[in-house]
Amino acid sequence: MTQQLTAHLSRLCRIGVVCMWILSVPGTAVLAQGTSGIPRLQKQGTAMQLVVHDTPFLILGGEPGNSSASDVHYMASVWPKLRALRLNTVLMPVYWELVEPREGRFGFALLDDLIDSARTSGLKIVVLWFGSWKNSMSCYAPSWVKTNQERFPRSRTGDGKAIEILTPFSDENRDADSRAFAELMKHVRAIDGEKNTVAMIQVENEIGMIPEARDHCAEAEEAFARQVPAELLAYIQKNKDSLSEELRHAWGSTGMKTSGTWEQVFGGGPATDEIFMSWHFARYTDYVAQAGKKEYPLPMYVNAALIRPGYNPGQYPSAGPLPHLMDVWRAAAPHIDFLAPDIYFPDFAGWLGKFDRDGNAMFVPEVDRRQSVANAFYAMARHNAMGYSPFSIESIDDPAHSQIGRGYDVLRQLTPLILGAQGTGSMAGFLLDGPAQTATITLGDYRFTVKHEYTWPYAVRAQADTPRYGGMIIMTAKDEFYIAGSGVVVTFQPSSGDGTNAGIASMDEGVFVNGSWVAGRRMNGDEDHQGRHMYLPGGEYGIQKVHLYTYR
Ligand code: DGJ
Repeated sequence: MTQQLTAHLSRLCRIGVVCMWILSVPGTAVLAQGTSGIPRLQKQGTAMQLVVHDTPFLILGGEPGNSSASDVHYMASVWPKLRALRLNTVLMPVYWELVEPREGRFGFALLDDLIDSARTSGLKIVVLWFGSWKNSMSCYAPSWVKTNQERFPRSRTGDGKAIEILTPFSDENRDADSRAFAELMKHVRAIDGEKNTVAMIQVENEIGMIPEARDHCAEAEEAFARQVPAELLAYIQKNKDSLSEELRHAWGSTGMKTSGTWEQVFGGGPATDEIFMSWHFARYTDYVAQAGKKEYPLPMYVNAALIRPGYNPGQYPSAGPLPHLMDVWRAAAPHIDFLAPDIYFPDFAGWLGKFDRDGNAMFVPEVDRRQSVANAFYAMARHNAMGYSPFSIESIDDPAHSQIGRGYDVLRQLTPLILGAQGTGSMAGFLLDGPAQTATITLGDYRFTVKHEYTWPYAVRAQADTPRYGGMIIMTAKDEFYIAGSGVVVTFQPSSGDGTNAGIASMDEGVFVNGSWVAGRRMNGDEDHQGRHMYLPGGEYGIQKVHLYTYR
């Protein structure tokens, strides 16, 4: 325990103190940029973090509407909102149709302007490559691709109907996309290789086949009749103990065959169609990513549209980078660093948990902006997420006072502590709502019982239903904790369970100013229910620092 804590505190010093030092010495920010390596992913304990300018970076992100980044004039009104929301990163599409309007003629002036504006606003960029696929469809393919179906063939339904989806079974399609993507990455390296405003890349957007589980064009039919690739079979044999339940079930249904066609190895039906299709989507996307990484090896991920309850493959975008297909994507796409969920459904915690397996790096590239920003606290503390990003971010009214702006303000203050604690076991997140109103957390020598504020009779009930609240606890020394978030009542017990009691030695609300804690009110009396609990009211985002002690 002591060793773990010492290691954790020295990490905090490295991140917190070094950041404070850089910020406080004039001119050193420029020095830090000029000397940095390119953005990369780096493991810390069980967490995978994004590292920018050689320092771990936490993405407080937002994604504008799909068409916003196609016009600098439109974006001129968006940048101030992003600043008011306290974002540090914008997730922004680069559109294939606009960067290569004629084959082989590339233009990146729009991107250059947007990168300049992001720099002026102090924001990093995650580039979203709207290439072959955007929400299943190929609407961002340039018109010279769309209009030449002989050369750039389409996917087809079972009854032979062409759909506006470029088939992944065509080398022409794949090569055209990867040439454009490679040009993009070459350009980004040329103009940004030093300053690293562009920190990460999403390859394609919400890949997945609709309205059927798989493609039925002639090339797809041929591929479906062929043997399952040896690489996939080798992968599933090697990783047989950690395969997703669904993949293990399909493979098990045929007696775990080690050779054969897709149907011989995985059985028939939509599950097999989806496995087959995901292999081919992933191979294609990997080829595109590899071409880009050859030019500039930034971290690259893919995002997934999730599954509506009761939907079958094809009703939902089949074969995308979903948790039950993670093994297939991993085997097929070694140049994709991780798979990320776009969470528009209410079960935020459930979906996030499904993606947190086998070392998959965690990031939430899209979320409904109306969902509680408590989700971000939870994702970063409970699942070591490197970032969070609500969609259509410019639609938020009164950004500075919005719940996202206020939540991000607190997360910004806590960033050095969060980054120091991720993956070390010294931090926990909690998310409370109607179905889950209590969480129990053990950290160090204490057990924390975290309850939704509506379970406490004296709390102000601002809403008729039970809104989502949540936050995080970070242990910074033996009996010292920061608790941050909204709408919770926390009580304390020793984790020993040996009959000792835990009490509050002292508790302050406060803020971090340039990385240093500045205490405000001493929270006692009615504010801590005469020493019984810590309370963060709903609708506000705050931080309290608590020292605990034990007594008999
Ligand atoms: C998910 C997509 O990835 C976004 O680009 C956007 O289309 C949203 N859906 C709209 O809700």
